[in-house]
Amino acid sequence: MDKKTILIVEDDPTVRESLRLLLKKKGYTLHLASQGKEALQIFRQKAVDLVITDLVMPKMDGMELLQAVKDLKPETEAIVISAQGTIEKAVQAMRLGAFDFIQKPINPRVMSLVVERALEKQTLVLQNRDLRSQLEDKFHFKNIIGRSREMTRVFDLIRHIAPYDSSVLILGESGTGKELIANAIHYHGPRAKMPFIKISCASLSEGIIESELFGHEKGAFTGAFLSRKGRFEQAHHGTLFLDEVEDIPPSTQIKLLRVLQEGEFERVGGNRTIRVNIRILGASNRDLQDAVREGTFREDLYYRLNVVTIKLPPLRERRDDIPFLVSFFLEKYNRKYGMKVKGISHRAMSLLADYEWTGNVRELENTMESIMVIHHPDIIDLSHLPPEIRHFKTRPEVISVRIGTPLEEIEREVLLETLKATRGNKRKAAQLLGINVRTIHRKLEDLEE
Ligand SMILES: Nc1ncnc2c1ncn2[C@@H]1O[C@H](COP(=O)(O)OP(=O)(O)OP(=O)(O)O)[C@@H](O)[C@H]1O
Ligand SMILES: [Mg+2]
Repeated sequence: MDKKTILIVEDDPTVRESLRLLLKKKGYTLHLASQGKEALQIFRQKAVDLVITDLVMPKMDGMELLQAVKDLKPETEAIVISAQGTIEKAVQAMRLGAFDFIQKPINPRVMSLVVERALEKQTLVLQNRDLRSQLEDKFHFKNIIGRSREMTRVFDLIRHIAPYDSSVLILGESGTGKELIANAIHYHGPRAKMPFIKISCASLSEGIIESELFGHEKGAFTGAFLSRKGRFEQAHHGTLFLDEVEDIPPSTQIKLLRVLQEGEFERVGGNRTIRVNIRILGASNRDLQDAVREGTFREDLYYRLNVVTIKLPPLRERRDDIPFLVSFFLEKYNRKYGMKVKGISHRAMSLLADYEWTGNVRELENTMESIMVIHHPDIIDLSHLPPEIRHFKTRPEVISVRIGTPLEEIEREVLLETLKATRGNKRKAAQLLGINVRTIHRKLEDLEE
């Protein structure tokens, strides 16, 4: 831990000196002042963790100083010392946020102990605050980018369901942000301050997954030298995120169902029934209903998990989000690597927007990071893009039509598909179809009737 800094404020030179000697031995960085005004000046300039102040001093007294210090930097700890230790003064100092009140003559052992404890508390408070702000920062919606209609709908849904304990099933292709969404649900709900525990169910064998989920007792199997809590116990009062839930083996599914229904289970090799209060979130990158149909996933479990479904659309269905994601990642990696990449050219951006992102947001993010690390460009341009993106050609779209399809239907199909291909640009679609824009408008109106 780095060295802590203490400001000693005392008008009596003998006391000041004895405090200095005492605390110097302990290795703290010290600043000294003989009165309040001077102390405040030092306090403003130095990073002070703890203020030890006398109460009665000319001009600005200890109480006023304490108040000013707490106003300026509330996380500073303070110890007030005084010869006239009356109860009222002590109470008043504590009310202003002092850590402790010590009477003169000062007992060095008591003083060192109180200083140590005050600094310990200060460290904890700071650590906690940092941690929380990191978390909130990381999982605030503001770090889930999406302006498209599809994503806005997802955000609305999260806001609606986060406050309740209902199970949520998050579906979407790989890299669409399922884990990000699971985090957001937890950190926007009443369980936010309780644990968020994740388990990836993919490719865990039956034996392992049960001991991971439910824990085991000592001697439950060879190698189980100690008993161990499973993820369910760890997540008590919080949220358990079952990632790749379709991979849970059938025999475990039935136990999982029991936890979801009754909130209880036994550790592997144990017979004590353990009760937990947990919110369950599940994620899968395949349609679980298929798995149900194929008989690899229990239907009753599916319905238990799937009280609410959130479907994350693949990136190719929300290309509007791509520019926002690009600028978000640009900023993210500028910050991470201390770079100053200024932006991206229109041409490069338009290739990124057209590309077939099979790995979705994860692939886009990796691409951005690697471009920045490899080229460290001033502005990202075509030459910085990886070849598969540079040479990517949007496939000519094809519609197949059965022989004998009514012409009217064919026309409608061609019209709508062309509009899709031009992303709703009617002028462009008209050009491709060799008709004028007004005709397109009219045909669309006809369709709506
Ligand atoms: N909307 C988004 N805004 C910002 N970053 C995103 C967004 N969606 C995904 N990401 C980022 O993309 C990466 C992949 O996201 P995440 O791990 O949540 O996807 P996933 O759906 O769980 O993928 P998988 O199915 O492979 O487990 C992460 O680095 C995540 O931060
Ligand atoms: Mg995931």
